[in-house]
Amino acid sequence: MFAAGVAHVLGPSYPKPAPVPRATMYHLIPERAQDVYEVEALFDLSFAPGREALSSYRLRDDVAPVAALNTVARDADGILAGAVRYWPVLTGGQPSLLLGPIAVHPTRQGEGLAGQLMRHSLVAAAARGWLRVMLVGDAPYYQRFGFTRLDHVVMPPPTNPERVLGRALAGDAWVGVTGPVTRWPEARAFPD
Ligand SMILES: CC(C)(COP(=O)(O)OP(=O)(O)OC[C@H]1O[C@@H](n2cnc3c(N)ncnc32)[C@H](O)[C@@H]1OP(=O)(O)O)[C@@H](O)C(=O)NCCC(=O)NCCS
Repeated sequence: MFAAGVAHVLGPSYPKPAPVPRATMYHLIPERAQDVYEVEALFDLSFAPGREALSSYRLRDDVAPVAALNTVARDADGILAGAVRYWPVLTGGQPSLLLGPIAVHPTRQGEGLAGQLMRHSLVAAAARGWLRVMLVGDAPYYQRFGFTRLDHVVMPPPTNPERVLGRALAGDAWVGVTGPVTRWPEARAFPD
């Protein structure tokens, strides 16, 4: 439209302006029951096959996620661009959030969307009374969001201890929290 208008005013030999990149606006909204299969498809697309064989999934099997924190990002047309889910776990007996899976559609990566999803959902987590969050992931990526290695926290094997990372949501919530990460007990209420 703009190029056509310029050509009309300046003549057809006027060089076509380069497209100006625009930041995409995303709506971050709670995941609903009807989003489940779309989100699963995004995770299947984004991760290597067999993601559910990872030991972290044994902490999720038959345990309800913290549904209030599960968040999807949709663009202005409603297209799913990214998603994050959370599960409750016990770390050395202390309530903790397990962040993940988190994924951004390959065509939307590098726009900062995963960061938006994490910041948005972690603010909500803190507001609901969760004190600490952990994940299994690449430190070079997650350290920019304040995650550091949890030296004395042990995920079910096989998990590379270098990839066990955590971040406090309040004060020094990880100080003195050590030991194995175990499944959330059935029927135990969440902090909120
Ligand atoms: C990891 C992921 C969620 C990041 O989403 P994103 O919206 O592209 O992330 P951001 O835009 O906030 O950050 C992108 C930056 O992180 C870097 N990055 C992405 N994954 C990284 C990793 N594993 N290690 C180090 N850096 C990484 C990118 O190179 C990019 O760097 P730049 O800012 O210097 O260009 C996305 O790449 C993804 O869905 N990957 C496949 C699924 C996955 O691996 N999930 C995480 C499991 S632990």
